Amino acid sequence: MATEITTTTGTHGTPGSEWWRSAVIYQIYPRSFADASGDGIGDLPGITSHIDSLAELGIDAIWLSPFFTSPQNDAGYDVADYCDVDPIFGTLDDFDRMLEEAHSRGIRVIVDLVPNHSSDQHRWFQEALAAGPGSEERARYIFREGKGANGELPPNNWESVFGGPAWSRIEEADGTPGQWYLHLFDSSQPDFDWNNRWVHEQFLDILRFWLDRGVDGFRVDVAHGLVKQEGLPDWTPPAESNSMGGGLEDEAEEAALSPYWAQEGVHEIYREWRDLLNTYEGERVLCAEAWVDPLHKLAKWVRSDEMHQAFNFGYLETKWDASALRTVIDDSYEAFHSVGAPSTWVLSNHDVVRHASRLAVTADNPQGDGLGPRSKGLPDPVIGLRRARAATALMLALPGSAYIYQGEELGLPEVIDLPDEARQDPTWHRTNGERYGRDGCRVPIPWEADAPAAGFNTTGESWLPQPSGWGAFARAEQRGVEGSTLEFYRRALALRKEHNVGLGSFTWLQHDEPEVLVFRTEGLTVMANTGATPVPLPEGADVLLASADLDGDTLPGDTTVWLAS
Ligand code: NOJ
Repeated sequence: MATEITTTTGTHGTPGSEWWRSAVIYQIYPRSFADASGDGIGDLPGITSHIDSLAELGIDAIWLSPFFTSPQNDAGYDVADYCDVDPIFGTLDDFDRMLEEAHSRGIRVIVDLVPNHSSDQHRWFQEALAAGPGSEERARYIFREGKGANGELPPNNWESVFGGPAWSRIEEADGTPGQWYLHLFDSSQPDFDWNNRWVHEQFLDILRFWLDRGVDGFRVDVAHGLVKQEGLPDWTPPAESNSMGGGLEDEAEEAALSPYWAQEGVHEIYREWRDLLNTYEGERVLCAEAWVDPLHKLAKWVRSDEMHQAFNFGYLETKWDASALRTVIDDSYEAFHSVGAPSTWVLSNHDVVRHASRLAVTADNPQGDGLGPRSKGLPDPVIGLRRARAATALMLALPGSAYIYQGEELGLPEVIDLPDEARQDPTWHRTNGERYGRDGCRVPIPWEADAPAAGFNTTGESWLPQPSGWGAFARAEQRGVEGSTLEFYRRALALRKEHNVGLGSFTWLQHDEPEVLVFRTEGLTVMANTGATPVPLPEGADVLLASADLDGDTLPGDTTVWLAS
C-alpha cells in the first residue's frame, strides 16, 4: 500500500490567501447557458434566473465569455463595442442586475477581454478603412502593402488559427485593390497594433469601464498574441504545435518560436493593467488565456506584477495516465511556485473537446480540430464519463484554483453528430469541413428533461441543435440524486472548501501500482486509479468522495477517491 516518500512539492503558492489563489470559477458560455428571451440564444437574464443553481453548486466565481456588441462571427470573440451588451444577450442594465444578484450570493464575476483583435465592424476598423493608407486610423491595426508586382500577394506566409491565410486584402475607397490587414483568427477579426500607444489607452479605458461597474476581473483572450515580432518575418509552425501555439515540449523547440506567440513585449502590457487593477478596491484579477509551453515559460504571465492566473493548458492536454499526470503536476507546482502564483487547473472550456469525451478518444485529435462523425478514435461515452469524473476528482483535490465549464457538472459529452449544416465555428468554414472545430462543446445545456429545448428556454429554439437524449443529463434529473454527476460535483466542492484544499499543501505518496497516483493534502488522502486493474483501498479507509461506485474494499479502474487521513 501507499508508503510516504520524500517528494513533497512544498506548500503551494506564497503566504497570500487572496480569493483567486484557491477559487473554483465556473465558466458561463452565455449563448448556451439559459435563454430567457426564447430566441434560441442564451442571454444575461437567463443567467440571472439561474444564479441560485450556481450558488447551490458551491462555486466561488463565474467567468462569462463575451456578451458584448458583436456580429457574432466568432460567437462574440469579434467585438464591435467593448463597452456595451449585444441586444441578443440583453442590456447593460441586465448586466448590472446579474452582477448584483451574483454578488449578493457571494459569487464574484469575471468578464472576458478580447484585446488581440476587434470585429471588422468595430468603428475603429471602419474608420481605418475609410481613412486610407498611412493614416493614424490605419495605424490602430496591422495594415501592410502586399508583395508581388501589384501587391497581390500577402505580406508574409502566416496562417490563421482557424485555417487559411492570416491576411486579407481590402478595397480602397476608390475601388482599387488596396492594403492587406493581419488577422490571426477570422478575416472578420483584424489584429490591433499594440506598438501603438493609442491602442493601450483605449484598452485602459475599457478596463476602467468594467472595473467601475464592479466586475471582479478579466479573463484575457489570446494573452500570448498581442505583440508581433518586428518585421513580421515568415514563419511556419512546427507540425506538432497546436493551432494556438501550445504543444511544443522542449527547450530546443523554443528556438523555433513563432513571431507572434509569446513575444516578450506582451509583459509590459500586463504590468500596466496590473497597476491599474491595483488602484481598485477588492482583489480584482487578470487570468491569461495563453497557450504557452513549457510551463516555466507560461509562469512569466503570472509574475507578481503581471497577471494573477494563467490557465494551465499543459494540464488540460495531459492524457489520463498516471505518470504523465504526475509529471505535469510536479512541473506545474515548480513553475508557478517559483513566481509565487497558484496553478490554475482546468479540464474543459468552450474551445476544447469536453473532457467527458476527450479522455476516451483513442486516436490523435489535435486541439481545435474537434470531433465529428468522421473523426478517428471516437470515444466510448461510458468510459469517457467515468474518466472525466475521476479526472475532476483529481483536479479538485489539487491546491490552486480551478475552472469548470458549464455542463461538465452534468457530465455532458461532446456532441459529435451535429449535422454539417448546423456547424457554425469559423474553423469548420475556413477549412471546408476538414476540421470540425468547437461547436460540439457549445450546445445549449439541459435544465429539465421534458421541456422545450430541455429547459434551455420555453420556445424550443436552440442555436445549435441539442441531441436526442440530452434531457437525461438535465440538472433537474440529477438534483438530489445520489451518485449523479451533479451531486458528485457538489460534494467535491463542499469538501474542497471544508478542507481548504485550494490553499493547502501537497505531498506525493508512493504506490506499488504505476497506474495509481496517491497524494495527501489537508486532511485528505487522494487515490486516483488511471489504469484498468482494481487495487485495494487502505485498511479502514474512510471514503469521503468517490468518482464511481466502489467494489467493496477495492478502488476500481478509472476511479478517484478522497479518503479522510
Ligand atoms: C480564444 C477564445 O477562447 C476562442 O473562442 C476564440 O475563437 C479565439 N480566442 C479568438 O478570439
